[in-house]
Amino acid sequence: MVPEQAADIRLAWPEVGEDELAEVREVIGTGQLTMGPKVAEFESLLAGATGTSHAVAVSSGTAALHVAVLALGIGPGDEVLVPAYTFPATANVVALAGARPVLVDVDPVTMNIDPEDCARRVTGRTKAVLAVHLFGRPARLEELPDVPVLEDAAGALGASHRGRPCGSLGLLACFSFHPRKIVTTGEGGAVTTDDAEIAESIRSLRHHGWSPSAAYVDMPAPAFNYRLSDVLAALGIPQLRRLDTLLAERERVAAGYAERLAHLDVTLPQADAGDRHGLQAYVVQVDRRDEVMAGLRSEGVGCQIGTYALHRLGAYRDQGGFPGADAAFERALALPLHGRLAEADLDRVAAALDKLVSPH
Ligand SMILES: Cc1ncc(COP(=O)(O)O)c(C=O)c1O
Repeated sequence: MVPEQAADIRLAWPEVGEDELAEVREVIGTGQLTMGPKVAEFESLLAGATGTSHAVAVSSGTAALHVAVLALGIGPGDEVLVPAYTFPATANVVALAGARPVLVDVDPVTMNIDPEDCARRVTGRTKAVLAVHLFGRPARLEELPDVPVLEDAAGALGASHRGRPCGSLGLLACFSFHPRKIVTTGEGGAVTTDDAEIAESIRSLRHHGWSPSAAYVDMPAPAFNYRLSDVLAALGIPQLRRLDTLLAERERVAAGYAERLAHLDVTLPQADAGDRHGLQAYVVQVDRRDEVMAGLRSEGVGCQIGTYALHRLGAYRDQGGFPGADAAFERALALPLHGRLAEADLDRVAAALDKLVSPH
């Protein structure tokens, strides 16, 4: 990310307070700081929110992606299709599993994976596509080629596509609870799935390889410690309970921006008709993005680039050109998005943008 100086209108502000403190205090009172009841409660709330049978909490979104890839037996010689415009962890976990992340271009407007380019890049070695609901915008998974679909739903908690929650659309889905996500545990992640065998495998992979169905006494294969502590799970519980309110607050801010920015030459974030955008971030697209970002910051408005074009990073520079990802990378700009933003704050952001961006 481009370093951000202190802004008086902050980009993000985690929605944690007294309810979260009370939950954490309870954990401290019991003395059971990990693998206790709060992780189980957090998982059950998450399974409920995503309409899935199993949710397994882990230590980060990256850990969730890593165990997801490994649970499917993906390894050396395999390929996984990954959007070229995403947070690098999406591709990193594939590489770290010994497989090859094959970059796929994105639609420059939705910024999600381009199904046609995806179909073109399928080979006999393709084991899965890791589709990202970028910034909370549901991806059109039904248009993807006929290979197993894993959802990178890191920023899509609360989003839905064609009436079904993101997190329940693929073979499995991965969430992040980093502080810029709608629900945060500080650091944390989870895998959701309807497949009991995958859930079992994820539970084993997060806990050294101990086998849950063998009462954790046998270890069929070595694995990691990717557990989430009860202290952190507790932090997420009240937020999951009020997920609808959290989402509604973000929708209020998004509607406020949409009204104030309609006359400007700015592409506003949208979901497909009938879908619900998860609004992990409010990412607009503008020409001369870096100049606009610097201008906003000089007015005290926190803002940030969207995310990364992987083919521009050293690790993934060998895969050719991706014009859709280039356009998204060069134009995307995240504006402040959190529940503490007052109408006056939105007025200030809009007034600052008015000076920096021309009208339609
Ligand atoms: C699309 C996407 N995937 C994966 C991750 C990784 O999540 P974490 O930071 O919790 O490891 C992020 C984090 O920002 C993300 O945005």
